[in-house]
Amino acid sequence: MRKPIIAGNWKMFKSVAEAIALVREMRADLDAVCDVEKVLCPPFTSLSVVAELVKDTDTRVGAQDMHWEDQGAFTGEVSPLMLKELCQYVIIGHSERRQYFGETDESVNRKVKTSLKHGLVPIVCVGENLAQNEAGQTDSFVGGQVRSALRDLTAAQVSGLVIAYEPIWAIGTGRAATGVMANRIIGTVIRGTINLLYGAQTAQSVRIQYGGSVSPDNISEFMSQPEIDGALVGGASLVAAKFVPIVRQAAASKRP
Ligand code: 13P
Repeated sequence: MRKPIIAGNWKMFKSVAEAIALVREMRADLDAVCDVEKVLCPPFTSLSVVAELVKDTDTRVGAQDMHWEDQGAFTGEVSPLMLKELCQYVIIGHSERRQYFGETDESVNRKVKTSLKHGLVPIVCVGENLAQNEAGQTDSFVGGQVRSALRDLTAAQVSGLVIAYEPIWAIGTGRAATGVMANRIIGTVIRGTINLLYGAQTAQSVRIQYGGSVSPDNISEFMSQPEIDGALVGGASLVAAKFVPIVRQAAASKRP
């Protein structure tokens, strides 16, 4: 059984003071849900306070990006060694980084390898844009992103990964994919690609999330799908009254 995982990607929102307030508001409620892994991904500036606030709970902390080198003259960058002290997860290859900051399949692969080397669990993001979706290129594009991200990894490394399928057209638009649609891409394309490369056992152990306009109203639809192991939540993770119900419903829908 893959443990469901709900992660909140706060993107470039929340000052340190606001981050503290939000975590204080949600902490006890999140802690009360134990069948789901919960991950908060605040901006770098709040990683330290968030890590401190959840340290005696089973809520985990993740960063939103990192550099692939351990250290060096890379002004403005943050290294895996720095993150290791503060968090357990790191989002890699989010479409906003690919779109606006020059992230490529190659840099994603380098970051995935470095994160694993340092014991950070990468949440590797893949997903097609609207034009690709409408042109029927989703399967080949997403399959290609998965192959590139995993290049040179061992089966043992791959089985510990988290992958997030986030169709770009669904991010921040209020227009989520359907559960059936996301389940097909996640099962057939993403798990299918891993199956071809690494075999069934590895493919069955990777946790794969859906992301894109996830809300308390649609989380159960996604979680009731057999191939979907959780969600990467953007906007709704900034509001306790939305994120907590998402986590609760995720636990309820995956209960055997
Ligand atoms: P929204 O939930 O705001 O659509 O964002 C999804 C996302 O990009 C999470 O990484």
